[in-house]
Amino acid sequence: MRSQAFLLSSWAALTLAAPSTTNNYGHFDPSDIIERDVAIIGGGAAGTHASISLKDKGKSVIVIEKKDRIGGHAETYIDSATGTPIDMGVIIFHNLTIVRDYFARFDVPLITLGSDAGSGSDSVSANYDLRTGKEVNITSPSQADTAAAFANYTQFLSKYPRLNDGMFLPSPVPDDLVLPFGKFAKKYGIEAALPTMYNYNPGLGDILTVPMIENQRVWGQSLVQQLSGGFLTTAHHNTSELYSKAQAELLAASSLLLSSQVLDSERCDDGITLVVSTPKGRKLVRARKLLITIPPRLNFLAPFDLSKNERSIFAKLIDAGYYTSILRNTGLPDNLSIANARPDTPYNLPSLPSVYSIGSTDVPGLKLAYYGTPRSPATFPLPDKKVKADILAAFKTLQRANPGAFNQTEPEFVAYSSHAPFYLQARPEDTKKGFYGEMYKLQGGRSTYWTGASWRAQDSSDIWRFTEEEVLPGLVEGL
Ligand SMILES: Cc1cc2nc3c(=O)[nH]c(=O)nc-3n(C[C@H](O)[C@H](O)[C@H](O)COP(=O)(O)OP(=O)(O)OC[C@H]3O[C@@H](n4cnc5c(N)ncnc54)[C@H](O)[C@@H]3O)c2cc1C
Ligand SMILES: *[C@@H]1O[C@H](CO)[C@@H](O)[C@H](O)[C@H]1NC(C)=O
Ligand SMILES: *[C@@H]1O[C@H](CO)[C@@H](O)[C@H](O)[C@H]1NC(C)=O
Ligand SMILES: *[C@@H]1O[C@H](CO)[C@@H](O)[C@H](O)[C@H]1NC(C)=O
Ligand SMILES: *[C@@H]1O[C@H](CO)[C@@H](O)[C@H](O)[C@H]1NC(C)=O
Ligand SMILES: *[C@@H]1O[C@H](CO)[C@@H](O)[C@H](O)[C@H]1NC(C)=O
Ligand SMILES: *[C@@H]1O[C@H](CO)[C@@H](O)[C@H](O)[C@H]1NC(C)=O
Repeated sequence: MRSQAFLLSSWAALTLAAPSTTNNYGHFDPSDIIERDVAIIGGGAAGTHASISLKDKGKSVIVIEKKDRIGGHAETYIDSATGTPIDMGVIIFHNLTIVRDYFARFDVPLITLGSDAGSGSDSVSANYDLRTGKEVNITSPSQADTAAAFANYTQFLSKYPRLNDGMFLPSPVPDDLVLPFGKFAKKYGIEAALPTMYNYNPGLGDILTVPMIENQRVWGQSLVQQLSGGFLTTAHHNTSELYSKAQAELLAASSLLLSSQVLDSERCDDGITLVVSTPKGRKLVRARKLLITIPPRLNFLAPFDLSKNERSIFAKLIDAGYYTSILRNTGLPDNLSIANARPDTPYNLPSLPSVYSIGSTDVPGLKLAYYGTPRSPATFPLPDKKVKADILAAFKTLQRANPGAFNQTEPEFVAYSSHAPFYLQARPEDTKKGFYGEMYKLQGGRSTYWTGASWRAQDSSDIWRFTEEEVLPGLVEGL
């Protein structure tokens, strides 16, 4: 632990900006010192939107991103033969002003999902048990039953309007909000909505046992409303277009360090200092405020000089593993999409870990495969080797069980991405004890603000709204 007096004196010394600066991190040439209003850790949905918003408010920023591109979970594979993009990460956005304005700012057109011929829209969906490879015939709830279930759900949510804005739970926390979602759905007549909720919210762990509030993060009022109006997606089926344009703008404004990571930091009430490793050597970043958007896992936050309180709060979070991939030579027809289903479980849900689904793409011969794990206290719930082996095994099982319908080929990965740790969340007993109130109280402490999926939801539109309305006002006030 560094002493507070030392922190303050080193901050003061830095602020004086002598021709060259020596501090407790050593010597930094003035050309290696970056001074900004705000330093932002992570250039995913949260960090990118915040940086552009702050820039548009006239504030100077520096985004520190560990990969060689921004976008985070928004990933697009470009087929080298045809140039056709395949979104293998974020695809769907809410039809909200904040979303439309953001895409319009970068001249990236949006359409209603499913309104054109893209992304395997002409494909047939079938249910297969990927343990046996056999087709499973499922009777889905009728549209009327599904709509009635969502109406019951909306009615329940209307009791807690602040949940639209974030994890603002009442105190004391009502038991209904921590009920396992399966029990909650039975209690309130929401069972017919479960298959839809499951399909649109992979990566949260087992939907039947997850606390109600954790599924609600994504399935809030805003997402339910999109069911009637239609989800938005990019007209070019290329979410990365948004991020490559934002990246170009941030680089041009010297507001982005790619392939960079914080090594050490001091966070004080009147500003923060970071030592950052970059491809051009170590830099010293000094900013009035820090915005951390990466998953708040203790191992990731080690360089951020955490307090005992921050440490004890973040230590309580658990997560799940979520993985995406694109394969060729799968032996499956191009027009077939497959959901993993069991004939013998409630709602035909597969047991995790397993492949969730196999999707068609706009490129003949290429299939998307999505894989998920149950909730886990581990940052990386499964080794990538095991996930890949399971995905390949699922295709082989399908082929062997359906020799007439599918060709006997050797599937190969053309792309694979681990999104672990995904869907950081509290255990129900901690939520009941006021976990989210404690976590949100960290906002602003020692010039540090927090946002991203772990603070709001695995949902870009909600993250943008949360950051803009709940986080940036306090951050900007002190600048
Ligand atoms: C396959 C998949 C599909 C999805 N589909 C949708 C969808 O259709 N619609 C939707 O709204 N949401 C979707 N989501 C949810 C998605 O996670 C959120 O919408 C959103 O992208 C999360 O943004 P974030 O900024 O919190 O995190 P991330 O996107 O993960 O961004 C974090 C960034 O920080 C970087 N980083 C991590 N550690 C460090 C470090 N130590 N130093 C510096 N940088 C670091 C990462 O490289 C990354 O760029 C999907 C997620 C996945 C995985
Ligand atoms: C989104 O909502 C607006 C306003 O309700 C509507 O005009 C528009 O057609 C919707 N869809 C798209 C793709 O913008
Ligand atoms: C599912 O339905 C199809 C078509 O009705 C039928 O051919 C097939 O045998 C059924 N499969 C099972 C497992 O019941
Ligand atoms: C669901 O809503 C309907 C009205 O649409 C109501 O009759 C029913 O009781 C509700 N179910 C539960 C369990 O609340
Ligand atoms: C998709 O976006 C990437 C990144 O901006 C770009 O290089 C590519 O040309 C785009 N492709 C299409 C078809 O839109
Ligand atoms: C299966 O193999 C046959 C013969 O090689 C080929 O014509 C057909 O396109 C293949 N189908 C799939 C789905 O790969
Ligand atoms: C899907 O493609 C196969 C050929 O691979 C074809 O026989 C079948 O009719 C197609 N199904 C639909 C619904 O288009």
